[in-house]
Amino acid sequence: MSDYLLEVNDLRTYFATEEGIVRAVDGVTFNVKPQERLGVVGESGSGKSVTAMSIMQLIEPPAGQIVTGEILLNGVNLLGLDEDEMREVRGGRIAMIFQDPMTALNPVYTIGNQLVETILLHQDVSRDEAKDIAIQALHDVQIPNPPARMGEYPHQFSGGMRQRVMIAMGLSCNPELLIADEPTTALDVTTQAQIMDLMLQLADDRGTAVLLITHDLGVVAGFCDRVQVMYAGSIVEKGSAAEIFENPKHPYTWGLLGSMTRLDEAQQHRLLSIRGAPPSLIDLPVGCRFRPRCDFAIDMCQDQLPLLRDMQDGREAACHRAHELDLKALAEAGEAATG
Ligand SMILES: Nc1ncnc2c1ncn2[C@@H]1O[C@H](COP(=O)(O)OP(=O)(O)O)[C@@H](O)[C@H]1O
Ligand code: SF4
Ligand SMILES: [Mg+2]
Repeated sequence: MSDYLLEVNDLRTYFATEEGIVRAVDGVTFNVKPQERLGVVGESGSGKSVTAMSIMQLIEPPAGQIVTGEILLNGVNLLGLDEDEMREVRGGRIAMIFQDPMTALNPVYTIGNQLVETILLHQDVSRDEAKDIAIQALHDVQIPNPPARMGEYPHQFSGGMRQRVMIAMGLSCNPELLIADEPTTALDVTTQAQIMDLMLQLADDRGTAVLLITHDLGVVAGFCDRVQVMYAGSIVEKGSAAEIFENPKHPYTWGLLGSMTRLDEAQQHRLLSIRGAPPSLIDLPVGCRFRPRCDFAIDMCQDQLPLLRDMQDGREAACHRAHELDLKALAEAGEAATG
């Protein structure tokens, strides 16, 4: 039996478009242990959501396709399941929360109805029991007066309250894994912190592992055990949250961190900035995909693709210079020089 709850091996998910093949996820390997919190960070367009949608098998054919890879849940390859079996996994064993709850809620059914139907789909209980579970779930996410709010429609809830409903729905079937894809990005800063705390506390109480996707490094720093950084469809660095923040090994990670420390608190919640833009996923550069934006590039970066390599203590980085660059020292020297 594997030690891992989820194992993703060499996942590649491509989209056929008029302009060409978009290699949205291009050889991604990672795992999640039971009850662990793994953070996935990277700029917009780096393949975070497509990774999540691939795990849930919500990629729409024929344009979108998982072209290779394995996605093992407790050792069973989800890519070998039929649609009925996958429907039981989705919402039952793996729940997903999206950035915009309106995409997941149906505007013409009441909140109570949608919660009850989800519970009936995944649990062997009567309708009355499902109703009780739904009321308790709304209570757990601190929605006032759950019995009354069960009869209301999604538009009668604020953005924050809708996201609470999604958390209630996601956790109502006690999934083994919760995938939260930018769950608080659309909310104001105060609500973001409350909802994130609540979601992670409830997941902990239930022993649910969390795959937390965000462009916000501050969020992963505060909430995750391990972090993986995505760039242009690949993972460029992996490690414990503490190590990644203390001493990043990949110039891209350093850039993300560097942009963050220069921002004030309100700005930290906006997109991070590094000079230039990510490459087109249709026409990926040969060699290192970060090279056009990298201050440390050497000749070999131009034609040799750096693969993830073990550094020390479970750290991995995909950079030809990761072993020799001391980014932390350079950052400190830079700070001393400027200020
Ligand atoms: N249905 C689709 N058709 C074509 N390209 C897509 C589709 N969905 C996502 N992509 C592309 O895949 C890349 C990764 O997207 P995504 O995973 O959503 O990024 P993010 O890291 O911001 O979540 C982007 O370049 C995006 O344009
Ligand atoms: S491999 Fe080269 S271009 Fe890529 S991040 Fe490392 S130093 Fe920069
Ligand atoms: Mg996304």
